[in-house]
Amino acid sequence: MKKPRVLLTGASGRLGSVILEDLSDVWDIIPLSRRGGGGTVRCDLLSREDRKTLLGRDFDMVVNAAAVSSPSHCANNPAESWILNTLWPRTLAEYCRRNAVQLIHFSTDLVYSGGTPPYSEASPAVPMSFYGWTKLVADILVQKADTDALIVRTSVLCGETGSERTTFSENLLSGRVQRVFVDSWRNHTPIHWLAGILPKLTKKEQSGLVIASGKYSQSRSAYAEALLKKHGQNTDHLVQEYAPPGIPSRLHLKGKYYTSSIY
Ligand SMILES: NC(=O)c1ccc[n+]([C@@H]2O[C@H](COP(=O)([O-])OP(=O)(O)OC[C@H]3O[C@@H](n4cnc5c(N)ncnc54)[C@H](OP(=O)(O)O)[C@@H]3O)[C@@H](O)[C@H]2O)c1
Repeated sequence: MKKPRVLLTGASGRLGSVILEDLSDVWDIIPLSRRGGGGTVRCDLLSREDRKTLLGRDFDMVVNAAAVSSPSHCANNPAESWILNTLWPRTLAEYCRRNAVQLIHFSTDLVYSGGTPPYSEASPAVPMSFYGWTKLVADILVQKADTDALIVRTSVLCGETGSERTTFSENLLSGRVQRVFVDSWRNHTPIHWLAGILPKLTKKEQSGLVIASGKYSQSRSAYAEALLKKHGQNTDHLVQEYAPPGIPSRLHLKGKYYTSSIY
């Protein structure tokens, strides 16, 4: 059977690079990124010309993994972040609805405040960061523009990737992260598991918002200790801290799709 032709934005990023590596057997992927690194095609989604060229290509499905994914970068670059994280997904959703193309878009648990857990697909969202707002408004606009679109909301991505950008677990194992929060709880999510469920979700003709994450919520510090111990590494260097204001504390997710594995 012919593989579906899938346009993948953000293909050089953490999640995009894993999707490209793990799903090329089942999808015929056209990989795109801003700078064109790692065998991807250069396409700056902030450029009107590039967006037009992109939508002129021939494809059956789009996976939108491009984003300004760092809350601090978002806060310091609000216009760029709003265009990429919020306006571009809406444009894409409108295109997909008009052309009967399946869209998968990614969202984040940082749309929630962390004050009223657990969070399911039906929970109200009130972000505490500008990043969270860019993603929440995108989710609303995508759902309005294309009711067949699938929005996959997830939490901290962990595991090895081929990306220049590294995951929380890669940063811990390489010693780059030493300060860990004791009061910020997240559903650490194995990135290869998340990529792996995407074809199943499209086969089920799933649409709308779904949460897909690790099953168990853990503090960043507990996750760090458990990961380092599992890899036989010392944990003495970890400095346990309280999170600064603006970081949601209890982001316990209870969504439709989850895995018991945490690494
Ligand atoms: N990372 C997490 O822990 C996490 C947690 C929850 C949800 N998510 C969500 O998952 C999705 C993927 O996140 P990620 O962590 O994989 O992102 P990432 O590693 O930061 O990668 C971002 C990707 O977007 C591309 N990009 C950035 N600016 C662009 C532009 N102007 N035009 C075209 N492409 C551009 C980058 O290309 P270049 O490499 O060329 O710059 C890169 O391929 C996002 O929707 C994010 O909100 C991530």
